[in-house]
Amino acid sequence: MRKPFVAGNWKMNTDSSSSVELAEGIASDATEIASAKATVAVFPPFVYLQSVTKALGTSSVGVGAQDVYFEPDGAFTGEISTSMLKDIGCTYCLCGHSERRHVIGETDELINKKLAAAITGGLLPILCVGELLAEREASKTNDVVTRQLENGLAGLSEAKLSAVTIAYEPVWAIGTGLTATPQQAQEVHEFIRKLLAKMYSGELAEGIRIQYGGSVKPDNAAELMAQPDIDGLLVGGASLKADGFLAIIQGAI
Ligand code: PGA
Repeated sequence: MRKPFVAGNWKMNTDSSSSVELAEGIASDATEIASAKATVAVFPPFVYLQSVTKALGTSSVGVGAQDVYFEPDGAFTGEISTSMLKDIGCTYCLCGHSERRHVIGETDELINKKLAAAITGGLLPILCVGELLAEREASKTNDVVTRQLENGLAGLSEAKLSAVTIAYEPVWAIGTGLTATPQQAQEVHEFIRKLLAKMYSGELAEGIRIQYGGSVKPDNAAELMAQPDIDGLLVGGASLKADGFLAIIQGAI
């Protein structure tokens, strides 16, 4: 059985006090009870990672970064390495979030380097994939997801994949209030699992967790999670309120 994995991506939101307040709100008894049945993690902005980790205290909520750079150190102004993230207690990182792909301009090749560095550096990365609205309308969803997975995972052995979670996030559903229907999401998740079985093995495909992301809310979490190939949720906007995030976690278990 794949343990559900619910992650809150705070994006470029919160400030020094509200990030701590949000973390304290999330680190509740109810979350502790829920996290026996689900992996829970939050992804604050880089500058609040340490204060959020401190605010979470002994809670089992993990902390991750929204991005990472692939070089270990050196003259890379503005970038953050895997060892820096490990040094301050990060467990996870996102790689290839759609906003990094489509707003910042990251390529599959760059994302592949980041993912490989994250695994080598001992982080547990979430590789995000998903199609634009025009690509869905042109029936290209499976092609896009195949390209992003084949290029994003290039050169990574099956053993290394044990550190990885995949997040399917249709770009047209992110921050728009338009959620993929559970059936639309399930179709792509099933496709991804079969693709991973071909690329690696049936055993790997059965074990890997595939999250859905894109306008997940307390009232749609349970129906998305009821789909057989949806193993978790990557939540943006709705993770910025502790009670809403907790309701999503409860919907996921
Ligand atoms: P959203 O964002 O829940 O606000 O749509 C999801 C994401 O980008 O991870």
